Amino acid sequence: MTTLTRTKLAIVGAGAVGTSLAYAALIRGSAREVALFDVATEKVEAEVLDLAHGTQFTGSSTVVGGDDIGVVAGADVVVITAGAKQQPGQTRLDLAGANIAILRSVLPRLLEQAPDAVYVLVTNPCDVLTVAAQQISGLPSHRVFSSGTVLDTSRLRWLISRKAGVATSSVHATIVGEHGDSEFPLWSSATIGLVPIRDWTVDGRQLFTWEYLEQLTDQVVNAAYTVIRGKGATNYAIGLSGARIVEAVLRHEDAVLPVSSVLDDYAGVSGVALSVPTVVGGSGIERVLEVPMNGRELGLLQDSAATLRRSLAGLGF
Ligand code: LAC
Repeated sequence: MTTLTRTKLAIVGAGAVGTSLAYAALIRGSAREVALFDVATEKVEAEVLDLAHGTQFTGSSTVVGGDDIGVVAGADVVVITAGAKQQPGQTRLDLAGANIAILRSVLPRLLEQAPDAVYVLVTNPCDVLTVAAQQISGLPSHRVFSSGTVLDTSRLRWLISRKAGVATSSVHATIVGEHGDSEFPLWSSATIGLVPIRDWTVDGRQLFTWEYLEQLTDQVVNAAYTVIRGKGATNYAIGLSGARIVEAVLRHEDAVLPVSSVLDDYAGVSGVALSVPTVVGGSGIERVLEVPMNGRELGLLQDSAATLRRSLAGLGF
């Protein structure tokens, strides 16, 4: 059982993503206290009640919340999930204008309540909102980052594990770049156990042909669209991804996760936030890792950065 000091996670937004994150955090014991804030009074109060009613079964974590931003006070980590969500056929970048407006409104008030917290953006487009949040808040870039491609990487690892018949935890493959249509896998460094993915065979036959890897990439890039078409939103996997990130911060884990932070001359990329393997610990971003990429992957990283830079420019950042 995890030994919890009195750590506090505050979640902004009691929609499907925020409440799934709260639920995941309670079950996983991510934080000693989980606080849920939303301006929709009846909604947030009902969500807090419904979550609290199950806390007999969730170890020592407690849940509080309401429509008073004071519920955020003293939080160690603040996760922002509030905002418009993707409609079928909409890209994440389409949400930028509306969700930056929400950020401008709520971030200053959050900082008054939790001036020392690490801020994690989940609201989309999370990479663009990371740059916006850093500029609006004036926080150092290590204390404001986004969930990035942690979720996409989990999707990829699940697909590979299912095909290869091995535990997901034994699959080491990472999605980098925008949390969006220009994301891509680092196939050149992907392994299953210690076996390079292209060398994985079944009955002497290569299982992960280049054509199949392309199919996997397409499934991951389009995963959210597929789920949104069927159920209107994604929430469980992003909630779990957020809880995992929160734990890395609150437990000072120094865990390597593909979160998205504002880069400074990373493979020539500066001034945009996108996901690359990053050491996440007690102060947020501890270190952005220079990972090996072949020429094709470096080109895709530049393309992803250019996509995000165009979106930022159009928004005045
Ligand atoms: C998704 C949302 C969280 O990828 O962007 O499901």
